[in-house]
Amino acid sequence: MILLCTFLTLCLSAVHSQFPRACTTDEAIRRKSCCPAWKDGSPCGSLSGRGQCRNWVVFVPFAAGKVPQYDDDRLDWPHHYYDKTCECKGNYSGFNCGDCRYGYHGEKCDRKKTVVRREIRELSLLERKRVFSYLALAKTTKSKDFVVLTTGDRHHRDTYRFVDATIYNVFAWIHYYSMKPIMMNSSFDWSRSYAHQGPAFPGWHRLGLLFLERQIQLLTSDEDFALPYYDWRGEKNCSICTNDFMGDNDVQAILNPYSYFASWSSICSGYNYDDAYCPVVENEYQMEMLRRKPGTDPLADRLPSFQDVEDTLKWRDFDRPPYNSRARRSFRNALEGFLRASDGLTLELNMHNLVHIYLGGTMSQVPISSNDPMFVLHHCYIDKIFELWIAKYNGTPNTYPDNNQLGQGPNECSTPYFPCYRHKDLLRKSTDFGYTYSIYEKSQMSQGQEQQEEPQPEPQQEV
Ligand SMILES: *[C@@H]1O[C@H](CO)[C@@H](O)[C@H](O)[C@H]1NC(C)=O
Ligand SMILES: *[C@@H]1O[C@H](CO)[C@@H](O)[C@H](O)[C@H]1NC(C)=O
Ligand SMILES: *[C@@H]1O[C@H](CO)[C@@H](O)[C@H](O)[C@H]1NC(C)=O
Repeated sequence: MILLCTFLTLCLSAVHSQFPRACTTDEAIRRKSCCPAWKDGSPCGSLSGRGQCRNWVVFVPFAAGKVPQYDDDRLDWPHHYYDKTCECKGNYSGFNCGDCRYGYHGEKCDRKKTVVRREIRELSLLERKRVFSYLALAKTTKSKDFVVLTTGDRHHRDTYRFVDATIYNVFAWIHYYSMKPIMMNSSFDWSRSYAHQGPAFPGWHRLGLLFLERQIQLLTSDEDFALPYYDWRGEKNCSICTNDFMGDNDVQAILNPYSYFASWSSICSGYNYDDAYCPVVENEYQMEMLRRKPGTDPLADRLPSFQDVEDTLKWRDFDRPPYNSRARRSFRNALEGFLRASDGLTLELNMHNLVHIYLGGTMSQVPISSNDPMFVLHHCYIDKIFELWIAKYNGTPNTYPDNNQLGQGPNECSTPYFPCYRHKDLLRKSTDFGYTYSIYEKSQMSQGQEQQEEPQPEPQQEV
């Protein structure tokens, strides 16, 4: 465990988060510099032309002098922690420009590759077992590149620490960290988040999935690895909640001991309160086991239908004022699930949110829901719908709206990723990021709770 703020005074202005391990040394924190050396020994691989260490790579959202009185460490990411970060050239990327932009591979990052994410039921038994064993490996292998932030008390910077976490737990933590209520003037606002309730929602989750997918590709040396998705349209109940797939559960929500994820515990569980970031994360005693209880919450008595997805895709505006959970006629708000997709007006639980609540247990505690690999499958399907929308309306970075949600401006860096990804740059075709989705012909008749006409074939995607 790396104890951070030994220099308390310095740390008051420079404390910490997905944090590259190399940027969490006392020295890096003190200098507010996150420009680790690449293997040629130079910061950001500058001697090899991969990138350079730059001041203010970040995009300052507020005009000088207008910075509001927020004391939240994640605002204007990653400015609170670092003034200097790597700016990578060409196809290079990563916190030290040692990796490639998503979609590129090879030492020189000059090989373009597109992987295909498929519905979990499209995989052969062997393929499915491989996915599950990769996930198990990510769950148990300590991340060599990243550490996570814990605090005893968000008001006291001297309690901030970086600790080791496994690769999957880093991913789970990233979501948890981004969702913590925003601290302003020492009080908390739960109605805002850096990843939800605003236009950043689809892109933020896209980036999280890319992070996990890439980490698994690196871990397993399997460059073709693609995350699977779960197309839940029109299901009567969670049909993949069986031991062959994501696991059966008992009435207590405990996963069946013979299922693949039965031994998984949840990072940051039991810490769903405002004042701390996930204290003592790797202490087994503080982590509860995964829980799931599909179809038992009276608030969510169904999964979204085929028609809900069609209706969501009919909203041409990516997002609309007030750019939060009350936005009407907004594709993003319909997809996120605060809106009835058919009329675009009625605020109700639907789509993304409905699936979380329907699945129950860990998935229904949204801040820690990323601990359940079901989160990955669910969000890949949400991302597929995002992708269908982009294709239908020719979405580009310019489509991303200017807005007043904290930390969700078009030019702000998505929290807490390294290097900086501006929100608007995530609104691009998935092939730009090196992946695409299978066309999954799901019959409404076989699953169907609804009497409807023919199944609608999905629009063909570019490959
Ligand atoms: C925080 O407090 C200061 C001084 O009391 C006040 O001017 C400012 O508007 C407050 N900011 C917020 C976001 O409430
Ligand atoms: C990035 O990769 C593409 C595709 O392989 C290649 O054509 C291009 O030259 C690369 N760009 C740079 C700057 O290396
Ligand atoms: C879904 O399945 C679970 C467990 O098999 C059951 O307890 C629940 O009642 C079902 N819910 C619905 C809505 O069918």
